[in-house]
Amino acid sequence: MKIAIGSDHAGFSLKKQVLDHLKEKGIEAKDFGTYTNDSCDYPDFALKVAEEVAEKNYDFGILVCGTGIGISIAANKVPGIRAAACSDTFSAHACREHNNANIIAFGERVVGPGLACDIVDTFLASKFQGERHQRRIDKITEIEKKYSK
Ligand code: RB5
Repeated sequence: MKIAIGSDHAGFSLKKQVLDHLKEKGIEAKDFGTYTNDSCDYPDFALKVAEEVAEKNYDFGILVCGTGIGISIAANKVPGIRAAACSDTFSAHACREHNNANIIAFGERVVGPGLACDIVDTFLASKFQGERHQRRIDKITEIEKKYSK
């Protein structure tokens, strides 16, 4: 399994902790930045990770900002991306099972490192359930197509 990970400055420290956690588990992850604590703009890193996941160069993406909200909103603008901002493990498995989320996002100002790692583990271990959920995702794709130029 290959993971693309990114953050802005507000998620930089938590991203490093999550990267260490993935390394300990033997999961391959590539860091698409930011690489310092300097102030930066979360859409830049959302775009990098979202494009890599949409192009299927990576199986899943992980995005971290202050809240997980801005970076997930930005990632969701890339066609084919279903980024879920999660602050709990129930949402982390439900977004895989029901929404076939391909990116998980969370906020360093919202969750601690222990919970963030549990959220990641839960997300990566959960599987899409298909059936009626696929029909709903197909409708999301139709919305995407309706508004794409
Ligand atoms: C940066 O200050 C902060 O706005 C950003 O990390 C994020 O929380 C936005 O949604």
